[in-house]
Amino acid sequence: MRDCLILGQILAFEGDPAQLGVGSVRHDRRGAVHVRDGRIAAAGDADRLRAAAPGAKVIDHGDALILPGFIDAHAHYPQTAIIASWGKRLIEWLNTYTFPEEGRFGDPDYAARIAARYMDLVLAHGTTTVASYCTIHPESADAYFAEAQRRGMRMLAGKTCMDRDTAPGFLRDSAQSAYDDSAALIDRWHGMDRLSYIVTPRFSPTSTEAQLEALGALWAAHPDCLMQTHISEQVDEVDWVKSLYPTARDYLDTYEAHGLLGPNALFGHAIHLEPREIDRLAEVDAALVHCPTSNTFIGSGLFDMGLRDRLRVGLATDTGGGSSFSMLRTMAAAYEVAQLRGTALHPSELVWLATGGSAAALRLGDRIGRLAAGYEADLVVLDLASTPAIAQAVARAGDIWQAVFPTIMMGDDRAVTEVYVAGRPVSAGRD
Ligand code: GUN
Ligand code: ZN
Repeated sequence: MRDCLILGQILAFEGDPAQLGVGSVRHDRRGAVHVRDGRIAAAGDADRLRAAAPGAKVIDHGDALILPGFIDAHAHYPQTAIIASWGKRLIEWLNTYTFPEEGRFGDPDYAARIAARYMDLVLAHGTTTVASYCTIHPESADAYFAEAQRRGMRMLAGKTCMDRDTAPGFLRDSAQSAYDDSAALIDRWHGMDRLSYIVTPRFSPTSTEAQLEALGALWAAHPDCLMQTHISEQVDEVDWVKSLYPTARDYLDTYEAHGLLGPNALFGHAIHLEPREIDRLAEVDAALVHCPTSNTFIGSGLFDMGLRDRLRVGLATDTGGGSSFSMLRTMAAAYEVAQLRGTALHPSELVWLATGGSAAALRLGDRIGRLAAGYEADLVVLDLASTPAIAQAVARAGDIWQAVFPTIMMGDDRAVTEVYVAGRPVSAGRD
């Protein structure tokens, strides 16, 4: 499909509405996205775009809302099958549920099966880009990238590195093999089609200093890669880091001392940061990732959205620590967490976090996450009345934000009527 006009309501963001104001977001009640060769040629008023592209194929989604595909800035695809596991906090949750499951991903067939299941699930929920952790096995990263490539998706991931005896023996690599395997994966996948490799030490407690050092060197050799890890998710974890790294100034210092801090760094959770850590993260322009369903599910704490004033912040499910594959559900949890901290996030801010905000955190803000000319045509189409409960609330809406908010709070995969990956409808592949 070379040239296509996709009709529906549209919301086109120029940037973060928390900074630019909600008035900066353009709403077209009868809008259109003109897609050509996998990219957005234009977005705006449907009549105007139809007149400008008379030969284009038209797909009309009626009153449904067209947004950029959702961007999940932190997830663990190998934890797909253990989502919603009961009763543990972080460290016990890792040992009880996560590590045994991750141990299965040395089997390429199993890894391929879960990668396919995972991508079916995220697309069904309207997510078109994910930054995922894999397992220590290079096979797990190969499976993810191969599946994403087959679907034409813009996807990011890295082999998770763990070599300390705090991780089980069956899930340990070494400083050298982590370097070598990650370097080979970068050669194989980074920059191929729409794929990007992320250097991925799991977190300080499961790496030796030698491994952090090796990964710092690898990142320095590939500075265009992102680096992702976890920081300050639970108080017990922060105390654990202090005991494992007694000379470090704080948690962030365990990364910085080994070359793992910079403008392309992505830190997941970041709930219990100290003032020095925040200052330093802002100074180097690192990004944070807010994982609200995980932070409530595992009992970690309430992320401070005020950090947005100083740092790029993305939004993420953190599946399977997070309890949903849905970025709608994740926006709802972000709203609830902010309410518990005394702030009501506007629907425009929630949509931005799941699209342009996550894109900016991933340094992809010039390619995905907006309905604007030149952007890649990854789109989600949302039915704003997908259940009776949502429909009766929307019937009273006075403007587009009141019409979107019930779907943010109560919507799920039933709201997703279509998803486009690089301009191609995903439903067409299912026929
Ligand atoms: N910290 C280290 N590994 C993990 C993980 O897999 N999930 C979460 N939520 N936190 C982590
Ligand atoms: Zn995580």
